This record gives sequence, C-alpha cells and structure tokens, in this order.
Amino acid sequence: MKTEILPSLLAADFGRLADEILRAEASGAEALHLDIMDAHFVPNLSFGPDVVALAAKVAPGFYRNVHLMMTRPDLYLEPFAKAGAQTIQIHVEADCDVHAELKRIRAMGLKNAIVINPETPVDHLFPYLDEIDEALVMTVHPGYGGQAFIAECLPKVTELRKRRPALDIMVDGGVNAETAVQAAKAGANQFVAGSYLFRQPDMKAAVEAMRAEVSA
Ligand code: DX5
Ligand code: ZN
Repeated sequence: MKTEILPSLLAADFGRLADEILRAEASGAEALHLDIMDAHFVPNLSFGPDVVALAAKVAPGFYRNVHLMMTRPDLYLEPFAKAGAQTIQIHVEADCDVHAELKRIRAMGLKNAIVINPETPVDHLFPYLDEIDEALVMTVHPGYGGQAFIAECLPKVTELRKRRPALDIMVDGGVNAETAVQAAKAGANQFVAGSYLFRQPDMKAAVEAMRAEVSA
C-alpha cells in the first residue's frame, strides 16, 4: 500500500492561504485535504469551491482531496468538480442516495470515497466496498480541527483492512506523529493531519518523519 500524508488546509493561516497551500505542497505531502462544512451536517462552516479553485490555481500539480461534511453533498458535486476536486469524499450518514452519488463522482472522472463518523458502526460501509476508491474513517467527531484522536475508531480500520487488503484507508482527526503510528498498525495507509502539520515550522521534516514512522 502506498503511504500518503495529507495536510488539512483547515488548520492553515487563512490570511495567507496561497502561501500555506504552497508550503503544504513543498512539504512533499502527497495531497492536500480540503474540509467543506455546511453548518448542518456539522456545527461549523469552513469554505467552498472557491478555495478548491485557489488550490488548483496556485498549486496545479498538488492533488486535491475534498472532504464534503455536508447533509446534501449531491447538490454540490458539480461545483466542486469544476473547482478542481480530484477525489470527492462523501459521508455514509449523508441524506442522499449514497450509491448513486458515489457512481456519479466516478462518472465525472474523479475518484470517490466514503466517510464514516465515530458513532456509525463499520457495517454501514460494507455495502459500498466494491464501489469506492477510498474509505475514510473519522477519528474525531467532524466539525473542528485540533480535537483529540479517538482511538476507539481504529477497530473499524482493522475490519476494513481485513475485508479489502488493497483498499486505500484514510484516517482524519487528531492525527499526529504518535496517533498516525497507531492508525498505521490498525491498517490505515493515508493520514490527514491539520493542526499537527500546519503548526510545524518545518512541515517538510514533519511529513518525512511521519511517513518514515508509519511505513516502519
Ligand atoms: C475534522 C476535519 C479534519 C480536520 C483535522 O472535522 O474533517 O480534516 O481538519 O484537523 P486536525 O488534524 O487538527 O484534527
Ligand atoms: Zn477532513
């Protein structure tokens, strides 16, 4: 499995977004994680397609992984695809026909992913495992950066890895140098980290250290 580290732009300095995107790209991270919050699915608002388009403009070669924390992601697939999303992640808890929307993301030529919240049992993902490019196991209750990692979510990663040895499995929330190793042991190969990476004076060194630790 290919290890991937994804800085989450939510933790960037919003006064210097373009520079922060370039700093994340220069860190050698495989992709940028962009968190979209609708103040309904989660109790917070973040940003919309314009920030995805900004990332596509300032760092066209830096892969864009877009996490839709939205009750109705189905209404926003086109704007995010048009803005330059390359993977679109939708929640299994969303209020839409999840099978149909996963299919539609692929039909737009993008990769799809399904996301599962801490309180949702892992078997809710089983019907989708043959229709996805990636599974994202949330390790915090989504809505805010900077929360503590919920290790109790890791058995879901292990169960998914057992069922799909070759699937990309991502963790998101509270990921740092230590918790990334726990997630890797459970079977994750993709690691989103927001506050941990963006607060590093040397993000490149932190990304390299995290990659080495989780690959060991
Ligand atoms: C949580 C978001 C995460 C968040 C992670 O609602 O989906 O991607 O940015 O932030 P940290 O790494 O600070 O927990
Ligand atoms: Zn996220």
